[in-house]
Amino acid sequence: MSVQVIESAAVIGAGYMGGGIAQSLAAAGIRVVLADISPEVTRGALERLLREARAFEDQGLIQPGSYDRISANLAAAPSIEQAVRDVDFIEEAVFENEDIKRTVLERISAAARPDAIIGTNTSTLPVHVLAPFVSGQERFLTVHFSNPAPFIPGVELVSGTKTSRDVVAAVKEMLERIDRQAAEVADRPTFVLNRLQYALFKEANTIVEEGVATPEDVDTLVRSTFGFRLPFFGPFAIADMAGLDVYVNCFVTAEKAFGPRLSCPETVKNLVAEGKHGVKNGAGYYGDYTPEETEALVAYRNKAYARMAELLRELGPSPLEKRRAGKG
Ligand SMILES: NC(=O)c1ccc[n+]([C@@H]2O[C@H](COP(=O)([O-])OP(=O)(O)OC[C@H]3O[C@@H](n4cnc5c(N)ncnc54)[C@H](O)[C@@H]3O)[C@@H](O)[C@H]2O)c1
Repeated sequence: MSVQVIESAAVIGAGYMGGGIAQSLAAAGIRVVLADISPEVTRGALERLLREARAFEDQGLIQPGSYDRISANLAAAPSIEQAVRDVDFIEEAVFENEDIKRTVLERISAAARPDAIIGTNTSTLPVHVLAPFVSGQERFLTVHFSNPAPFIPGVELVSGTKTSRDVVAAVKEMLERIDRQAAEVADRPTFVLNRLQYALFKEANTIVEEGVATPEDVDTLVRSTFGFRLPFFGPFAIADMAGLDVYVNCFVTAEKAFGPRLSCPETVKNLVAEGKHGVKNGAGYYGDYTPEETEALVAYRNKAYARMAELLRELGPSPLEKRRAGKG
């Protein structure tokens, strides 16, 4: 499928996520038409999004000039059909309900140009479940933004078996223009982001249910220890820096206590068996590290964490922490 650069878009479902996605696209100069459940609801959403954008700019949260670009590029349509009929890209962001998504995707694909790309913001539904609702499956994929959409940079992309590579390339290029980082993942329910997030959340609940710690203390530890590293490094980079041999030893205790659920991953064991212990001896998940790369990585890490501590001091405690301190 040959695809041009995305210059215009429609966002269907102008709620929490659709609204934020529309603001992000419009702020980057892409013309965006919104449609929700009725013309009144859509007009109300447009007014709210403009008010919000004004406030974001006044608070210095978005680039100066963004409000003018958003208000120039964002419009409300009276129906889904009118919103989608002449745009390059359509993002569906209605309720997370398969039946509603079916009706909306059928309406979108019947009214859109045959070459229009159709994305869905679904959090959990696989592409192979939603793609049959779209005519022209080669133009369909998941483009999963995170909440709050105007501020979170990462976007998960999921292709179906029929999605064209040109379509994926055009969406990636659009995401670069709106300053987002895309990651492509395979078509499995809950994708990667929510699968990891739910695994952490489930374990955190088990810890509380077992009486090991309170929700507040779990949150304090998550945000102030390993969560403190996460804006800069993912779990594999962190493991390389911590030492893979160290992980193997720590998993011995974890497996003894919690069984196979927390046994050492085979990949870690294999890397260690090959003598790859991470940054400390120059090889790990990220392949080989030269001494210069290791030095640069450690310097970046130290600077990043020191700056993060500075930012947190400047922002002060969150309202939730303040409330806790007040009770304490
Ligand atoms: N909220 C989150 O944290 C989050 C994060 C990532 C992805 N998502 C996904 O984004 C999608 C939207 O979620 P949300 O949080 O913005 O929900 P929301 O309830 O804020 O917004 C959904 C919007 O869809 C509209 N809508 C419902 N049926 C419609 C129809 N038939 N035609 C037109 N509009 C219709 C609603 O009126 C509403 O404005 C869901 O698939 C959700 O799973 C949500």
